[in-house]
This record gives sequence, C-alpha cells and structure tokens, in this order.
Amino acid sequence: MVTEKYLAYDLVIFGTKGDLARRKLLPSLYKLEKTKKLNKHTKIIGVGRANWNKENYSEMVHEALEKFMNEPIKTKFWNKFRKKLYFCNIDVNYIDHFSKLKKMFDQKNKTIINYLAMPPNTFGMICKGLAMYNLNNISSRIVMEKPIGDSLKSSQYINDKVGKYFKESQIFRIDHYLGKETILNLLAIRFSNSLFIHNWSNKNIDHIQITVSENIGIEGRWGYFDKSGQIRDMVQNHLLQILSIVAMSVPLDLSADSIRDEKVKILKSLKPINQKNIKRKIILGQYSEGYINNKLVPSYLKEFNANIKSNTETFVCMKININNWRWAGVPFYLRTGKRLPIKNSEIAIYFKNTPTNLFKNSLKNIPQNKLVIKLQPDEGLYINIINKVPDIDSTYKLKEIKLSAKYSKLFKKKTIPDAYERLLFDSMIGKQALFVRKDEVEASWKWIDNIINAYKKIKLKPELYPAGTWGPQSSIELLKKDGRSWNIC
Ligand code: BG6
Repeated sequence: MVTEKYLAYDLVIFGTKGDLARRKLLPSLYKLEKTKKLNKHTKIIGVGRANWNKENYSEMVHEALEKFMNEPIKTKFWNKFRKKLYFCNIDVNYIDHFSKLKKMFDQKNKTIINYLAMPPNTFGMICKGLAMYNLNNISSRIVMEKPIGDSLKSSQYINDKVGKYFKESQIFRIDHYLGKETILNLLAIRFSNSLFIHNWSNKNIDHIQITVSENIGIEGRWGYFDKSGQIRDMVQNHLLQILSIVAMSVPLDLSADSIRDEKVKILKSLKPINQKNIKRKIILGQYSEGYINNKLVPSYLKEFNANIKSNTETFVCMKININNWRWAGVPFYLRTGKRLPIKNSEIAIYFKNTPTNLFKNSLKNIPQNKLVIKLQPDEGLYINIINKVPDIDSTYKLKEIKLSAKYSKLFKKKTIPDAYERLLFDSMIGKQALFVRKDEVEASWKWIDNIINAYKKIKLKPELYPAGTWGPQSSIELLKKDGRSWNIC
C-alpha cells in the first residue's frame, strides 16, 4: 500500500469560473497533482451559480488548463486530477445554499480550505454562510485574494467581517509576490551571508531602488483598475511587501509571526508623505499612445471601456524614507507602471562609495558597488564590482565587471514553481509565513491613505508618458536631483 505523504483536505474555490481561478489556481492545482502533493482523498470543489454537475465542471477545468497552462496536459495526471473535481451550485447571496456545500464533505475534521477568489464585498457573506453550517471549525481555513479594501477603513471592515467567524490563525491573505522564488531567496541572501548581514544598513548602503515594470496595459480590466490605480493595485501590497522584506531586521526564527513581526515594524516606520512633501516625493504618470515591441498601442484613455476624462495613475514613482536607526538617511526609490518597455521586477542595492579614490588616474569616479536581485522574469542576481584589467603595464586600469548568477544556468534541472502553486500548497499544510497578517494590511493602508488624501487635496494630476518608455521624465529627474540614476534594466 502506498502511504500518502500529505494529508487529505477539501479545497473549495469560490469564484471558480473567474479569471484568477482559470488562469492561476486550477493550473497550479494540476501541477501539485503532478508533483504528488495532492492526497488521493483530496476534493477540489468549485462553487458557482451555474447549474453544473461534476462532468460540466471537469470540462471547464480542462479548457482552462489547455488555455492557460504553459505545458501540455498529460492524460496520466489529468485522470487522477479529474477524480478530485466536484461542483457545488451556490449563490453566495443565499445563506441556505451553504447547506449544499455541507453535504459535500464526507469526513469529519478533514481540513477545509475555502479560497475566496471573488470580490471582497462578498467575503463577509461567504464567511457567514460557512459559519451558519459549522464549516468554520478550527480545521477550516480562509484564503483571501487582494484587494482587501481600498482604504484602511474598508480593509478593517472586511477583516472584521471575516474575523467574526474565523481566527487570525485560520486566515491566509494572499499577496502572490510573497510566493515568488526570488522573494524567498531574499531572506536566504540577507540572513545567511555574513557579507550582507553586516553591511545591510545606513553604514554601508547609499540607497535602494525597487522597480516592478510591466509592458502590458489594462487587459480588459479598465473598470476595476480605474477605481484602483497603480498605487492601490501594486504599491499598497506587492511593492510595500518587497520593501518590508528588504528592510526588515533579522527575525527571531523563520516562523510566520517572527517574520511578520519584523515586517510590520518597517511598515509602521515609513515616514508619512503628506500635502507638504508630496511634490518632492511622488510622481504620478498615465500612459499615452506609444510602441511596445514595435507595435502601436492605444493610450490609457482609449482602452476598451475607458472614460476619456480619467485621471487615474498607471505609473508611480516614490521616494520613501524609513524612520528607524538602521535606515535613517537611506532613500528607497520605488517605481511601478503599466506599458513600460519590458516586464521586469528587480531590487537594486547601491553601496556607499569608497572614502577616497586611490585610482583617480584610471577612473575619475569609482562607480558604487551594487547588488541587483532580479525577481522576474530572468530570476537571479548580479553584483557589480571594480576590477583591474590584466596588463603588464604597472599603472592601474580599472573596469567595472558584473558577477552574475542566473537561476536558469545555476539550477538547470529545477523548474521554478509558480507563486500560486507554492501559496496554495502552503495554505494546505498550514504555513502562514508567506501570507499577510491583518496588522500588516492595516499599516500599509494607513500609510497609503495619507498619500491618496494628499494628492487629492492638492489635485496632483498624472503626467503623460508614451507607452514603451520608462514613465514621465520627472521620475528620472527625481533621482537626478539627488545625484543618482535608475539602474538600467
Ligand atoms: C496583480 C495586479 O496583483 O499583479 C495586476 O492586480 C498586475 O495589475 C499583476 O498586472 C502583476 O503580477 P505579476 O506576477 O505578473 O508580476
């Protein structure tokens, strides 16, 4: 008899016909099947208003895998996977519908993971429905997708609604950037290399840059995006999470709470950006028509379903300071935008210059050392260092060289798991370290609320930038004024 390595659980996907489930969740679950991480007694229960049976649901899942998975479906794994698929016809607006779900669980005390891939205004109702039929006992979990609100107040409202029925230890808030391999590696790089541990502060670091660029536009999501904008859609969650991991102090251990305790300290130490300083700290942009990969693309205002008068930002650049001993005086420059030239996420850490230059004759200004961590798409890192060019001549000739470590070369045989694959798996085994705690969500919204209020008050408008460029010129000037420039991606 083959013993199963992982426990069986039931995974319920609310919003299973939606984009997220079809694009990300279902392909990730199939891959978990392939790598034998799903117990044979595990059930995957899609929830929706359609009047479907198991067969209809399997067809939909198969279509989604064909369309969105970056590899062919193998019959051997599909046959095992499809046996796990079930469908439950529920309209979450009707509390008595949840009785149908209750009937689908065959085993007492089996862990139930409820994945809420639906708009946040439904979270409260879903949790109430689950609780009504005692589906919120201690072995049940809730996995919540962003956005958790659009302000501190609305996020507290959602968190309180969910918190009424589920304890914090049962709630898994997803920020899919936390599931990316290179973000996890950031902890390893920072806390297992003494070379970095002892240099990771204002003593030796001059400044830090975080870039998350995308070349795609709004992709049919204009309605959602226009209400949100790049600050709420990307900065409040992904970029602040990256920043908090880059800046946090050494955690006590690798437990969820130790890591999150340190991250939240950073979020609470961000210097406020307000009406007085916002013009010096923030640049907003909106893309106009331009070229991406030699193809003409429309402006934000001419996208499908757009409101021609919108002032929503599709680009933001920020200069952030952290009010603590480690980071006093070290600016963090963040930029993120849609329709930039390439998809690229990276963190560039610039170290301070040498106190004097012994090699003036060869190099007037010695470039700063920098460590660049590439989050995606070309995962890896490189360090720029200054080296002597080999020569018989006794006068020094210096050159900046790049020591590069690309995952694709270093770990040829390893496939890098998708962020959702890892996060789904962690939610199943109950590991919360890569999920966002309530106080983190609140601290980041509190800081973001100030910014949004400030730019609304002073009526700060986004500057136009042509699609296919690195945002408004003033985002380049922002660093130039400080004698710095963006790392060339
Ligand atoms: C999502 C945002 O959270 O992240 C999208 O809502 C964005 O607007 C996406 O495109 C980017 O994720 P990734 O993993 O492709 O960098």
